[in-house]
Amino acid sequence: MKLIYGSLSSLLGKRIAQNLNIEANAVEHRIFPDGEQYCRIPVDVRKEQIVFVQTMRPDTAILEAFFTLDALKEDGAEKLMLVIPYLGYGRQDKAFIEGEAVSARTIMRLLSEMTDILITVDIHAPHVFEWYGGRAENIMPSKSIAKKLTEMGVDFVLSPDKGALHRAKAVAELMSVPFDHLDKTRLSGTEVEMAEKELDVKGKRVAIVDDIISTGGTIARAAEMLKKSGAEKVYAVCTHGLFIGSAIERLTKSTDGFMSTDTIESEYSRISVAGEVARVLKDG
Ligand code: R5P
Repeated sequence: MKLIYGSLSSLLGKRIAQNLNIEANAVEHRIFPDGEQYCRIPVDVRKEQIVFVQTMRPDTAILEAFFTLDALKEDGAEKLMLVIPYLGYGRQDKAFIEGEAVSARTIMRLLSEMTDILITVDIHAPHVFEWYGGRAENIMPSKSIAKKLTEMGVDFVLSPDKGALHRAKAVAELMSVPFDHLDKTRLSGTEVEMAEKELDVKGKRVAIVDDIISTGGTIARAAEMLKKSGAEKVYAVCTHGLFIGSAIERLTKSTDGFMSTDTIESEYSRISVAGEVARVLKDG
């Protein structure tokens, strides 16, 4: 098995390779003066089982992935296992209004042509796998998150929305601490409203656990409610840290600390999903 990683997943690519005890190879990647991309496979892939790791955000990363996958196939790779730590466009998983392009479907259909196995992490809508022809698996990084939160002395876990409760519940159960949820209504791209709720968090060290932090609006509002209910510390943890616009400023003001996993690499990637991804790859 050989592992190759794209330019946006170097940290995670190397960590997965380390867990698998194999070499990590970077795609040779350059940007031409006109903005177009150049990709080259740095190793011989003929008749090899290849793991390719590339997050799918921003758009340039998606193109880099498609160019690399096509080259891998053309160069004779026997089996292509694609690890997508963060699936961009995963939230456009249906036509909310008639005529809308379902971008997640487009990506899945194209990937079906190019790969044999797909591994994603905390995908927004797992039903998009129905458009993928091969074997697809979604990993939830609950164990890694629970381990980190335990080290931090967290003793209460909160989901910012009922629909996302399964994630917080899985983490809380691994930690053997209580959990609860809020009820969120999205007002705009940056603002959310939370229904008033009594939270039993007086003196607790609470972690808000969500899949994505985008503008930080959800976390800021939830943190405000937790502080009002007497929480001693409020932390925010997400799988995918997009941190759009003034998110960092917002999170710094509203929480006692925030972090993400390494599905999207940033200075806030303090939890790694490498072990969980490597385990699935080892199982074949
Ligand atoms: C929504 O479906 C997601 O689970 C997140 O709660 C959302 O993406 C967070 O967005 P923001 O940080 O902009 O409030």
